Amino acid sequence: MSKSFLGCFILWILFQLLIEVNCQMTPFKPNVLYKHTATFVDNKLYILGGKDINENYVGKEFFYLDVSVPFNTQNLLWQDLSNINMLPPHSSAASVKGGVNNDTLFLYGGITNDQTMALVYTFDPQSNSWAIPKIAGVNPFRKARLTGVNHDGKMYLWSGTTILDNYVFVNDMLILDTINLSWGKGSLVNAPTPRGHYGAALLPNNNIIYIGGYDDITVGFNDNLYINKGNALTLIEVYMYDIMNDNWSTKMTTGNIPSNRADFSTVLGLDGQRIIIFGGGFINPGYLDTTLYELDLINFVWTIPKVTGKIPTPRILHKANVIGKYMVISFGYGYDQSIESDILLLDISNNEEYVWTTTFDPTIPNNTNNTTSTSSSSSNSSNNTGAIVGSLFGGILFSFGVYLLYKWNKNKKKQKDEGYGQEERTISTTKNIHNYVNNNYNNHEITQVPINGNSTNNKPIIIPTPVINKNCGQEIIHDENTTNHEPIIPAPEVNRNYNHGEVTSTLDNDKLQIFKDEILQAVDQKLKNFNNSNITRNDES
Ligand SMILES: *[C@@H]1O[C@H](CO)[C@@H](O)[C@H](O)[C@H]1NC(C)=O
Ligand SMILES: *[C@@H]1O[C@H](CO)[C@@H](O)[C@H](O)[C@H]1NC(C)=O
Ligand SMILES: *[C@@H]1O[C@H](CO)[C@@H](O)[C@H](O)[C@H]1NC(C)=O
Ligand SMILES: *[C@@H]1O[C@H](CO)[C@@H](O)[C@H](O)[C@H]1NC(C)=O
Ligand SMILES: *[C@@H]1O[C@H](CO)[C@@H](O)[C@H](O)[C@H]1NC(C)=O
Ligand SMILES: *[C@@H]1O[C@H](CO)[C@@H](O)[C@H](O)[C@H]1NC(C)=O
Repeated sequence: MSKSFLGCFILWILFQLLIEVNCQMTPFKPNVLYKHTATFVDNKLYILGGKDINENYVGKEFFYLDVSVPFNTQNLLWQDLSNINMLPPHSSAASVKGGVNNDTLFLYGGITNDQTMALVYTFDPQSNSWAIPKIAGVNPFRKARLTGVNHDGKMYLWSGTTILDNYVFVNDMLILDTINLSWGKGSLVNAPTPRGHYGAALLPNNNIIYIGGYDDITVGFNDNLYINKGNALTLIEVYMYDIMNDNWSTKMTTGNIPSNRADFSTVLGLDGQRIIIFGGGFINPGYLDTTLYELDLINFVWTIPKVTGKIPTPRILHKANVIGKYMVISFGYGYDQSIESDILLLDISNNEEYVWTTTFDPTIPNNTNNTTSTSSSSSNSSNNTGAIVGSLFGGILFSFGVYLLYKWNKNKKKQKDEGYGQEERTISTTKNIHNYVNNNYNNHEITQVPINGNSTNNKPIIIPTPVINKNCGQEIIHDENTTNHEPIIPAPEVNRNYNHGEVTSTLDNDKLQIFKDEILQAVDQKLKNFNNSNITRNDES
């Protein structure tokens, strides 16, 4: 008996090794190109949603890059989490890191064809689970093409567009309290005109700066990313929303003012005294040699920073996060994925000279202020053997755990059939549920419930999460014993109150007509552009 056990054990070890090696040799290859979100949480850069090179939604694609360890952009080790992604296909949403412990991904809005898509989702990286939080207060309509900025747990969601047939640029300062889970509104007195795909950054003086963008839904650009149709907004003026005083002001800028533009990325410099913008689609480029500008926040002078390293191809509709000493640019439209990396790194630690580089060093230099923290945890710099041994050990523990769970489940089966009424109804509104773990995982989500007296209704909707092997995100472990208490229920008709002006998939005649018109218009436009021998890509396609 002990012999065959040993045999099994060795086989199992070999199997584990195979999985491990397999995981490491076939890195995940994303399809996403642009209009995604990039959220930096707990040393991981999470990429979600967006569209691929054929302008199709990438669907369930969800993955991250571990930035606690050095890497080279020529060899990115994306970790795939797509099999735990329960969100409908979408693009141009807004995201921040927020929540009680400032470690939860909040996703707001976005364009989608799926009318079941909730207005807000949360992803908890600790339990690898998605949830739909119940949010108190006015349930606003869906917006897209906007940027979320987190200040002290509140997500500021200014302007953007509706996702109706005729996109409307909406002027409102929507505020999502990610801690108390409630909606609020900010002042619009002296606010700039409404717009989408603008630049935004939180400044050290508790202001959010807003720059550029567009308010012309017909805007299109050629292969050089010059706007050749429609218009984008000026960067001569920049706008400040003062969070503490809830008021707006406008600043006039001077210097090498970038031409009107939209779809660029904006970050705060490491010293907190400048913002840096990259890329975007622009009008009549005045300074053809660069797509990189910085704005001094003391005197509001635009300059072209000194840059060394290999200048990358310009991009639009990408994202940028400050991670350690880098402006980390992810994906975007305009580059050749077979030649250039999906990630660009601009080392911004030296204000006198920024450096385009391909190597990421997670240590933070000591000559800059700590505006962002990649808590340089050396504990995570695992070498491969360590990881393998760790996973083996984890596997043994896991198997033992599954066995215990099985036993425990058998005993508890009866009790478990009770008390799930609420969840079952809500769970059944999400699709494609194959497998999920014990709801205990989500317990701390439930404690996030807003303080709102009369609310039995304010429970967050828990989206169950399949069990995954954390060492290799591709694998779903199908263990019937952990899921036997929940049948898969077809989605019933639920009354949804967040369906204000969303594009529905069931087209009625009016919509078909509009759709037909749009196609005709698009074809017409394409032909016109071909005649100009200058292909226009519509931002809204
Ligand atoms: C969470 O972190 C972000 C920076 O990533 C910061 O802007 C925000 O104020 C923080 N929120 C809280 C509640 O500390
Ligand atoms: C959440 O609500 C509590 C109590 O009402 C309040 O003290 C706290 O300031 C609120 N937090 C945020 C981030 O609004
Ligand atoms: C914003 O409010 C603060 C405090 O009331 C005030 O000092 C400041 O002048 C206001 N700014 C503008 C632009 O109104
Ligand atoms: C760091 O911040 C302080 C004030 O918070 C500022 O005076 C100083 O110039 C900053 N240092 C750098 C290197 O930017
Ligand atoms: C940064 O640290 C190094 C050694 O760790 C030291 O030699 C250098 O003077 C420090 N620089 C600053 C600006 O503090
Ligand atoms: C940056 O943060 C580290 C660790 O929190 C601290 O030791 C260091 O003094 C900070 N440096 C500056 C310039 O604030």
